[in-house]
Amino acid sequence: MSEVLVDMRSITKRFPGITANYKVNFQVYRGEIHALLGENGAGKSTLMSILSGFYRPDNGEIRIRGKKVNLRSPREALKHGIGMVHQHFRLVEPFSVAENIILGTTGRLQFYLNRREFADRIARFAQSYGITIDPWAKVWQLSVGEKQRIEILKLLYRGADVLILDEPTAVLTPQNVRELFQTLRQMADNGRSIILITHKLQEVMEAADRITVLRKGRNVGTVFKKDVDERELTRMMVERDVLFCTTNPSHDIGPAVLRLEGISVVGDGGIPALKNLSLEVHAGEILGIAGIAGNGQRELAEAVTGLRPVAGGRVIVGGQDLTNQPASRFIEAGVSSVPEDRLGTGLVSNLDLYDNVILKDYRKPPIRRGPFLNHRVAREKASRLVSEFNIQVSDLSYPVRMLSGGNLQRLLLAREISLQPKLIVASYPVRGLDVGATEAVYRLLIELSNAGTAILLVSEDLDELLTLSDRIAVLFRGELMGVVPAREAEIEKLGLMMVGALTVEGRRA
Ligand SMILES: Nc1ncnc2c1ncn2[C@@H]1O[C@H](COP(=O)(O)OP(=O)(O)O)[C@@H](O)[C@H]1O
Ligand SMILES: [Mg+2]
Repeated sequence: MSEVLVDMRSITKRFPGITANYKVNFQVYRGEIHALLGENGAGKSTLMSILSGFYRPDNGEIRIRGKKVNLRSPREALKHGIGMVHQHFRLVEPFSVAENIILGTTGRLQFYLNRREFADRIARFAQSYGITIDPWAKVWQLSVGEKQRIEILKLLYRGADVLILDEPTAVLTPQNVRELFQTLRQMADNGRSIILITHKLQEVMEAADRITVLRKGRNVGTVFKKDVDERELTRMMVERDVLFCTTNPSHDIGPAVLRLEGISVVGDGGIPALKNLSLEVHAGEILGIAGIAGNGQRELAEAVTGLRPVAGGRVIVGGQDLTNQPASRFIEAGVSSVPEDRLGTGLVSNLDLYDNVILKDYRKPPIRRGPFLNHRVAREKASRLVSEFNIQVSDLSYPVRMLSGGNLQRLLLAREISLQPKLIVASYPVRGLDVGATEAVYRLLIELSNAGTAILLVSEDLDELLTLSDRIAVLFRGELMGVVPAREAEIEKLGLMMVGALTVEGRRA
């Protein structure tokens, strides 16, 4: 039926400590929208970075239109008609739209000789894809959606007929998403092929012709959309390889440390991110938050650490009403956090290890002594954490930005745990870590909960949630689909709850 434009065979790509792609086969037909679906870390961006010449595979081969190719750079990939729009745009902000499109092409000189004619040509070119642009607008003036369109046009103008878009809807409003999908369909109808990277099932069902699911670096299967439904895809995305037994031994659960009473939270785009959410996390309990990323998890973690205001409802920590209090009050009340973005909100990459360790308690004795810092006490604390948590550094002035992922996470956990928190909010705590470091983090979380700390664990990995949690709460589009005891949880049901196809009533507290 269809001509195979792209044929990736047995692609393997390793990064230090992790196999991002393992023997992946991936084919794209002419004129199709092919969704590459998988959870965060499944290896989607890596596979497509290989196809677009940004990374070299360790093994495997790539054929374009039946011919074996060696893609040594993005430029070379583009010569074969393959272009990728990355999650972070690569436009030159002070330049005009026309200049950005022309940049790096052979038309550049002619452009500067005859700007008007070129600008008109570009506007017409855009129009032929149903895209309206102002060629003279400066890129910095454009909205995110417009910048994305310019990125797409840039690749089309350079002759790309296989267009890869990496999570293109993450930055768009629902209206813009619809427009984007229409543009993509038009391009596919004109014989181009679109590869749409996403972890959102609704988008796949809306936009794709075929779907390839990656899980933990492997191709789980390629299917026609008409042959599957969201349930089937969820199963492919999240199914467990091995059946764990819960390794978190039964232990005493104490009073509620965190209580959320019907909170509503607004997300970055002004869109409701959490709707009337009520939850409790008890002392000694690990409450897992399951859900496909982008369903309110980030806003939840921010709301319970004081980093994001709530628009309604109450946030109660240890019996104190901390609703819309500053983050410092949450820290004082014993709330610690292991954020998603370790080097953004968690640790300060420009500071050394010593400064990062004392960052949160330099205001208090014993590190604070009158107006001074007691460096001896602070240094002792830093050295103790480094040895207890097995952080591999030569000395305390080691710059944090040079630590490996595992060491970084151990440092962050070490610091947060040393504050003896009553509640820890951990978001994707093992993302990017190798097996050894993952185990160490799991052990720490279990030890902490056994010692009475309440833990709110946000994760996309059901294995992880089932292994660690006492109860699992499922979020879908900012709403609670239900809370189930981890011991009784069935992976199928959790999957259905994650796509909003099932609600479980019952112990919501
Ligand atoms: N440049 C890199 N260096 C080291 N590890 C990487 C790099 N890029 C990706 N990884 C790791 O490879 C795995 C797959 O990542 P990625 O392809 O970005 O997944 P996805 O796009 O599906 O979220 C992840 O564990 C990620 O941390
Ligand atoms: Mg990615």
